[in-house]
Amino acid sequence: MSTASPVSRKPLRLGVLISGRGSNMIAIANSIREGRLPGVEIAVVISNTGSACGLAVCQELGLPTAVLVSKGRPRAEHDADVVACLRRHNVDLVVLAGYMRLLSPEFIAAYPNRIVNIHPSLLPSFPGLEAQQQAFDYGVKIAGCTVHFVDEHLDHGPIILQRAIPVQETDDAHSLATRILTEEHIAYTEALARVASGDYEIRGRRYVRRDTPAAP
Ligand code: GRF
Repeated sequence: MSTASPVSRKPLRLGVLISGRGSNMIAIANSIREGRLPGVEIAVVISNTGSACGLAVCQELGLPTAVLVSKGRPRAEHDADVVACLRRHNVDLVVLAGYMRLLSPEFIAAYPNRIVNIHPSLLPSFPGLEAQQQAFDYGVKIAGCTVHFVDEHLDHGPIILQRAIPVQETDDAHSLATRILTEEHIAYTEALARVASGDYEIRGRRYVRRDTPAAP
């Protein structure tokens, strides 16, 4: 009987981009530390503002950080600096985690289908800012979050996964956002595990697991 030798893969190196609180970044870091994302590591956390609260937590977690201030700079120039920083850290996958900036076409082209984002609504409903408030005001009964690849349109690329929750009669926009955030933290880890497995392809705008047969 022959035994297959274990396949040793290079770790998937994440470049996590934040602008604020960084709770998704922290959830990812915890998942890595607790063994839920084998073969994944955070190469660098980049913030576009020095005041992002998430930066302080990075220090505690021992994560390398870079602050590249975007305010007052042309988008293309700032993005070129971010891409250079990601390259210096040998980043394989760019993870937007509350990064409050649109990416330039050059940035997206530098990492084709290698940039992921989390959005606090069930896309394609409620793209853009204040998604939870939009969903609440619209009166939806099911809300949730979406992890997707990033393309040149806002909150638009192929969807990797979504998690849904019912909107309660007692909810307000704040309580809804809090419950969606809990789902976000689970969703990002699951989505990164899927991407890290490499066991998928993108058909049109559909993310499809490799063992899924193509339609006849
Ligand atoms: C999250 O709701 C995320 O979906 C959205 O921005 C928020 C960032 O939160 N893109 P955090 O900084 O990860 O806590």
